[in-house]
Amino acid sequence: MSFQVFQYMLLRIFSIGSFAGTTGQQLGHYAATIRHHDGVFYVICVYLGAPAETGVLYTSKNPYDESAWSDAVTFNASSIDPDLFWDDDGKVYSVLSGITLQEINLKTGDLSEPVNIWNGTGAVYPEGPHLYKKDGFYYLLIAEGGTELNHSVSIARSTKIQGPYESYENNPILTNRGTDEYFQTVGHADLFQDGDGRWWGISLATRGGPSWKFYPMGRETVLFPVTWERGQWPVLERVRGQMSGWPLPSRTRNIPGQGPFNSDPDVYDFRLGSQIPRNLVHFRVPAKDSFSVTPKGLRIVPSRSNLTGIPGNSLLSGQNGLGFIGRRQTDTLFTYSVDLDFNPISVDQEAGVTVFLTQMNHIDLGIVLLNSDSSSKNHQSPRLYFRFRTEASTMDNIPVIPGNPPPPKTVPVPHSWIGGKIRLQVKTLNETHYEFSAMPLSIPGAAMKIGIASAQLVSGGSGTFVGSLIGTYATCNGAGSASKCPDGGNLYVNRWRYTGDGQIISAIDG
Ligand SMILES: *[C@@H]1O[C@H](CO)[C@@H](O)[C@H](O)[C@H]1NC(C)=O
Ligand SMILES: *[C@@H]1O[C@H](CO)[C@@H](O)[C@H](O)[C@H]1NC(C)=O
Ligand SMILES: *[C@@H]1O[C@H](CO)[C@@H](O)[C@H](O)[C@H]1NC(C)=O
Ligand SMILES: *[C@@H]1O[C@H](CO)[C@@H](O)[C@H](O)[C@H]1NC(C)=O
Ligand SMILES: *[C@@H]1O[C@H](CO)[C@@H](O)[C@H](O)[C@H]1NC(C)=O
Repeated sequence: MSFQVFQYMLLRIFSIGSFAGTTGQQLGHYAATIRHHDGVFYVICVYLGAPAETGVLYTSKNPYDESAWSDAVTFNASSIDPDLFWDDDGKVYSVLSGITLQEINLKTGDLSEPVNIWNGTGAVYPEGPHLYKKDGFYYLLIAEGGTELNHSVSIARSTKIQGPYESYENNPILTNRGTDEYFQTVGHADLFQDGDGRWWGISLATRGGPSWKFYPMGRETVLFPVTWERGQWPVLERVRGQMSGWPLPSRTRNIPGQGPFNSDPDVYDFRLGSQIPRNLVHFRVPAKDSFSVTPKGLRIVPSRSNLTGIPGNSLLSGQNGLGFIGRRQTDTLFTYSVDLDFNPISVDQEAGVTVFLTQMNHIDLGIVLLNSDSSSKNHQSPRLYFRFRTEASTMDNIPVIPGNPPPPKTVPVPHSWIGGKIRLQVKTLNETHYEFSAMPLSIPGAAMKIGIASAQLVSGGSGTFVGSLIGTYATCNGAGSASKCPDGGNLYVNRWRYTGDGQIISAIDG
C-alpha cells in the first residue's frame, strides 16, 4: 500500500452523494490535487472505501465558502492520485499513479483509455504525478520509493504529452532519504507559481528524524522555494525546518472565510447560540443530534461503541458514529484541557480526553462509573474512577507498534471531587511523551497526575497516513441495546482549550 493523504481541513468540507463514510481506519479522500483554471477551482482525488475506489471531482468559484462547492462528479478511477492538466489546445488530462495519462471530461467524468507514459526511475511505487507545461516541454513530476524513509520526487520531460519522457539525470530531484534531516519521508510534491510569478513547491514530510519513531502529527505538508529558469529543469530546495528563499506574503488576518486560523489556540466556551468551531472534527459520521451546544455547554451524547469499538460488530464497531470530537495535534508541544460536567448513573458510562490516531491507536483518560472492588465494604456499589488506558492493537496485518504501552490504571475519584466539574488535561512533557492529569474545579490547587504514555503509540501503526487528533469522548462501553446507551451519561463540555507550547523543527541534540 502506498497511498497519500493531505491533512488539509479541505477534507472536511466535502460530502459525496449518499456515502455514509468508510469502514477502514484511514480511508476516504486521498491525495487531493487543487487547480485553478478560468476562474474555477477544481479539487480532484480518489475516495477509497466507498466501497470501491471512486474518483471524485469538485468545483467552486469561491473556495472560502463551504456552500459554493459543487457535489462530486464521480468517475471510474483506473488508479490513485489523479492530477488535472489543461493543454493549450483545450484538452484536459488526468495523470494517475502508474504513471498513466487519460483525457478527462470535466462535466461527466468520462475518461479515455489510460496510456502508460513513464515508469519513473525504477524505484517502487511511481505515484502522485503532476503535469506542467513550460517553455515547450511537458514536465512530469512524480513520487517514488514508497511513502516511508525512501520517499522521493523525480521528474521527466517531453515535447509531446504522450511521451516519450526523458528522465532528469540528477533524479531524485528532491528527497531526504539517507540523510539525518529532522524532516524525513519528503515526497509527493507539487509545484506552483505565486502572484508574483515565483515558483514554490509543497510536499509531504514527517518530523522526528531518521529514527522515525515519534511522529504523532503524521505526515505534514511543507512549503519550499523553487527556481525554474527558462528551458531548464527546476531546482527544488532541500526540505529543512528553517529555509530561506522567496519572501513569504506578509502576515494578515484579513482573509475571507469563517474557520479559525490553523496556528491559533482553541479558546472555546460553547456558550448558547455559538456554533461548534470548524476546526473540530469527528471520526466516523456522528449520529444525529449527538453533538449540540446547550445552556450547559457542548453536549455529547455517548455512543455505545467506545473509541476502540468491536471490529465486525455492526452495532459496536463505531461505524454508526462515535461520541468523539477533536482537533488535530498541530504543535510538537501543547496543552489541551476540557472542563467536564459529567454525572453518570449507570455502570460503564464514561467521558474523557484522548490522543487519537485511529480506533486501534489511542491513549485515553476517562472518568467512568464502575462497580467497586467486591472486597470493599459496600461491595458492588458503583463508584467513580479515573481510568487511563491505551489501545495499540494490530489490524490489517499492521504489526503492533512499539512504545511500551503502560498497563491500564484505575484510580478512585476522590470523594471531595465528586459532584463538581472536573478538568481533564493532556500535556506534552516533551516531543516523545504525553502526560494525562485531572483537577477538580471546586478545590483550587488540587490535581492528580494519572498517566504518562509514549507518542510512539500514536505514530504510524494503523494510521501511517494520518496524524493524531486531540479530543474528548463520551461512551457507555457497550452497555444498553441496539444503538442506545442506558439513560443518562450525557457529557457537557464547558471550557475547551488547546494551546501550542512549541514547535520542534530540527534535531535537538544533532
Ligand atoms: C473501470 O475502468 C476499468 C479500466 O480502467 C475497467 O476495467 C472497469 O470495468 C471499469 N469499471 C466500470 C464500473 O466501468
Ligand atoms: C513500463 O514498464 C512496463 C513493464 O516493464 C513496460 O511494458 C512499459 O513499456 C514501461 N513503460 C514505459 C513508458 O517505459
Ligand atoms: C529503501 O531503498 C533501499 C534501496 O532500494 C532498500 O534496500 C530499502 O529496503 C528501502 N527501505 C525502505 C524503508 O523501504
Ligand atoms: C520525555 O519525557 C519522558 C517522561 O518523563 C522521558 O522518559 C523521556 O526520556 C523524555 N524524552 C526526551 C526526548 O526528553
Ligand atoms: C470497549 O467496549 C467493549 C464493549 O463494547 C468492551 O468489550 C471493551 O473492553 C471496551 N474497550 C476497552 C479498551 O475496554
